[in-house]
Amino acid sequence: MMASVAMMMRAAAATTIQTTPSYSHLTARKTMTPSARTRKNHRMDNNNNNNRRRRRGELLQIVSEGTGRFIVGGNWKCNGTRESVKALVEALNKNVPNIEKNCDIYCCPTFLHLPYVKDNLNERFNVCAQNSWVEADLVDPEHHYDSTTGAFTGEISAEMLEDLQVPFVLLGHSERRTLLGDTDEIVGKKVAHARYHGLSVVVCVGETLEERENGTTFDVIFKQLKAVAKEIDDREHSSWGSSVVIAYEPIWAIGTGKVATPEQVQEVHSKIRSWLAENVSEDVAKATRIQYGGSVNASNCADLAKLSDIDGFLVGGASLNGDDFAAICNASSVHYKAVGR
Ligand code: PGA
Repeated sequence: MMASVAMMMRAAAATTIQTTPSYSHLTARKTMTPSARTRKNHRMDNNNNNNRRRRRGELLQIVSEGTGRFIVGGNWKCNGTRESVKALVEALNKNVPNIEKNCDIYCCPTFLHLPYVKDNLNERFNVCAQNSWVEADLVDPEHHYDSTTGAFTGEISAEMLEDLQVPFVLLGHSERRTLLGDTDEIVGKKVAHARYHGLSVVVCVGETLEERENGTTFDVIFKQLKAVAKEIDDREHSSWGSSVVIAYEPIWAIGTGKVATPEQVQEVHSKIRSWLAENVSEDVAKATRIQYGGSVNASNCADLAKLSDIDGFLVGGASLNGDDFAAICNASSVHYKAVGR
């Protein structure tokens, strides 16, 4: 039964792969009309009914691989001089003819280098900011948090990223959570605010080694997901699949050279997808791209890409080398072949 469901989903996926990424949602800020509100209420009723039926065991919980395009991100973190960034941009541009067409790509330079990279990096690569901010104690029932420009020294707002036409923002990276105090709640608000300004978001989730060892990995990850879903679950879901990417990054694997095993990655990714199916919707669960991040490099990416529930990678260290990053992007072909697309 599950096998045939997976085959049907693959067949559906084959028809949904786009040859060029669509970012039409960038301009699609929505004011909800009465009919949209009615549709939303119906959808919420259906979701609630389905959740009740699922709890009674009446519905099959479909958990299978996603249907989105493979997506690879390069997180440059707090690295780079004008000279080294120029060299990396040139190395990436040189690799464009070698990069498969079947993969979405984004690169995250520092804010300082963002305009230069945006102007000089080949458009095969999207640019992505490493953060945008919201005020921690702001309460906004409309989930817009729409006042992040002004007297906030040292911060960068989603409005500015929108103005610069930066299409992606990375939110909730573990380095920001652990070193800079980004709580689950703040990450949720940042996601809502960035989406309100038309940005696609990459939301990082993941557990520490201690949490893995004491068996709370899924409690931690589901709590992180819940804080995000809470901020957007009463809004339109139609663009979630294309505009919210989840990056599973076990903290113990980041920058350590210690990669999670394929079994560990597959288990977490499929549980994230199940969580989305249960708590958001099955459509969103299928469409959401779930990336793995943590010591991914040009040598280990192919084995990981074979996993059915990996929809891409978030790469730190290895993204600073143009050839290695291009090789990791090309793991997309390994993935499509493994899942029969
Ligand atoms: P890494 O970093 O690839 O250097 O482990 C990944 C990340 O932090 O996004």
